[in-house]
Amino acid sequence: MSLPELLNFHHILMLSVFTGAANGYYWYQWSQCIYSSPDLSDMVYIEGFYFNKYPIVQFNSTVGKFVGFTELGVKNAEMWNKDPNLLQQTKAQVDVFCRHNAEITEAAIYNKTVQPKVKLSSVMPGDSKHPALVMCSAYDFYPQPIKVSWLKDGAVVTSDVTSTEELPNGDWHYQIHSELEYTPKSGEKISCVVEHASFEKPMIYDWDPPAPQFEWNIQLLFTIESAGLLLGIIVATAGFISYKIKSTEKIIGPH
Ligand SMILES: *[C@@H]1O[C@H](CO)[C@@H](O)[C@H](O)[C@H]1NC(C)=O
Repeated sequence: MSLPELLNFHHILMLSVFTGAANGYYWYQWSQCIYSSPDLSDMVYIEGFYFNKYPIVQFNSTVGKFVGFTELGVKNAEMWNKDPNLLQQTKAQVDVFCRHNAEITEAAIYNKTVQPKVKLSSVMPGDSKHPALVMCSAYDFYPQPIKVSWLKDGAVVTSDVTSTEELPNGDWHYQIHSELEYTPKSGEKISCVVEHASFEKPMIYDWDPPAPQFEWNIQLLFTIESAGLLLGIIVATAGFISYKIKSTEKIIGPH
């Protein structure tokens, strides 16, 4: 395992910047490695020098030389660009510093994914226009990019959808919440679709709404109760008839 390479600045700006300075002057320099391609082919090394927030000199590895932005900066850029050693060393930073360190970082995080834990839940009742609210929450996933969408009977729903951004947990994992307002219709199937780098295909989670199930239970209860009542009436009637027949038999039977 290779060690991270540290930057080593050794070009010193003219000290005139600092001499006779009143309070409040602020000097800084920073270096950046900018890339977006996983193979690091588009890596750019930037070395910037700033005074009181204004850029003085910048080295950009794509440009390949120092560029000055102020009188002082132009003078220094000229001076540094004439130093083949310094120029060569600075140009090399895109490989020695940027690519080298990025390779180490990428090896540690690239292609590492954590699948979201997805939960569907009903939220407090919405307005009268859309009496039902369902929330699709994805927890503890990595990396950040994710897509959460809704299906109604297999068709994509875009209206009445509210979603948060991907919220950082602070431990490299993220969470996101998407809400759908809808009017419940019997037999309608609502599903939440989650697309993430950790999944091989979009994952579909069907919503099992609690409200219609509750109604159905009440109905079932009534059905059972009426069936019981009916059975009771039948049994009672049968008993009464058989009693009547028996008592009639008793009266007219031969004894
Ligand atoms: C570096 O230089 C290239 C080419 O001029 C330019 O496209 C790019 O924006 C520069 N990068 C920065 C951060 O200034």
